[in-house]
Amino acid sequence: MIRVGVNGFGVIGRRVADAVAKQPDMKLVGIAKTRPDYKAQIAAQKGYTIFGSDDEAVKGFKTAGYSVGGTVKDLLAQVDVVVDACPEDVGKENKELYRKAGVKVIFQGGEDHEIAQVSFVAQCNYDLAKGKQFVRAVSCNTTGLSRTLHTLDQAFQIKRARVVIARRASDPDEPTKGPIDSVNLDPVTVPSHHGPDVQTVLPNIDIITMAYKIPTTHMHLHSLICTLKQNGVNEERVINALSEGPRILLVSQKQGIKATAHVMDYARELGRNRGDLYEPAIWKESIKVVDGELYFFMAVHQESIVVPENIDAIRAVLGATSKTESMAITDRSLAMLT
Ligand SMILES: NC(=O)c1ccc[n+]([C@@H]2O[C@H](COP(=O)([O-])OP(=O)(O)OC[C@H]3O[C@@H](n4cnc5c(N)ncnc54)[C@H](OP(=O)(O)O)[C@@H]3O)[C@@H](O)[C@H]2O)c1
Repeated sequence: MIRVGVNGFGVIGRRVADAVAKQPDMKLVGIAKTRPDYKAQIAAQKGYTIFGSDDEAVKGFKTAGYSVGGTVKDLLAQVDVVVDACPEDVGKENKELYRKAGVKVIFQGGEDHEIAQVSFVAQCNYDLAKGKQFVRAVSCNTTGLSRTLHTLDQAFQIKRARVVIARRASDPDEPTKGPIDSVNLDPVTVPSHHGPDVQTVLPNIDIITMAYKIPTTHMHLHSLICTLKQNGVNEERVINALSEGPRILLVSQKQGIKATAHVMDYARELGRNRGDLYEPAIWKESIKVVDGELYFFMAVHQESIVVPENIDAIRAVLGATSKTESMAITDRSLAMLT
């Protein structure tokens, strides 16, 4: 069994911890966080051992009546791999601790590419992560774009990709963040950082992105225009390629799915934890090819899309299984659709 710790138990950490607990070849040793809030209570109810981020945090948990496994250092002493799901840039501060403990680490997309030896998306570069100590599971937008562009590039060769990203303003558990009644250009300058981030996974893709924030919490919406090198590509071939591509979901307005709210409502019916949708959702009817240019809309559930990649990254750094085997185990355990 691969012994795994999860440091940070927020939006991503809670989901990764639950996914680790479901893997037949992994054992969740424990989770670490700073505060004894309702998320700590949930961890305790699930039987997860709680570790404090430092001595002060341990004291806080004990005062609040929790039994604690120790500090994060104690957690690191018991694991093969730690998933760092701390807030942006905290991973950077934790890196020395991990290095000293000699554990392998999966960082998240809020950290810079330079923190790790590989920026990871399973279908694109699983083998590159084999045996590495520091790997970064890229952000939600980068994961969605990498899966889709990789699939299209393999089928038709992408000459260039241009993407406009309407970003959710905040996650559902962040009630004080906005905008409430505005569309915020974020960043105002073009291009946004998302294109270069995709190139950390797919260095040969010519991609330029621009982004803004909209008053919603549940999904990002991408509008893509891809120029294809292969001639004679039509909508039917694109639909076939995307339906065969791993971890991509095609949705249709014929199902009544015309909005991100419908996608999430559909996802809630799938019976997964928290109504999560691990696959980017692409609208079939939006797929259009005009003069060698492919257009479509894609929605990304920011809270959950990176979960399967974190699980595969754990196996990859240990060289535990092949890409195909790891992705198959992950997909089965998470009831993935594709
Ligand atoms: N949210 C998304 O949509 C999303 C999508 C993809 C990738 N990411 C990336 O995933 C990472 C985590 O984001 P998130 O949204 O999950 O953050 P989050 O919801 O704010 O959760 C962060 C967690 O880290 C804990 N924490 C804070 N400081 C810590 C420390 N020094 N040691 C141990 N734990 C600490 C917090 O615990 P306490 O509450 O106890 O302080 C909390 O449980 C970031 O790099 C982010 O960019 C986020």
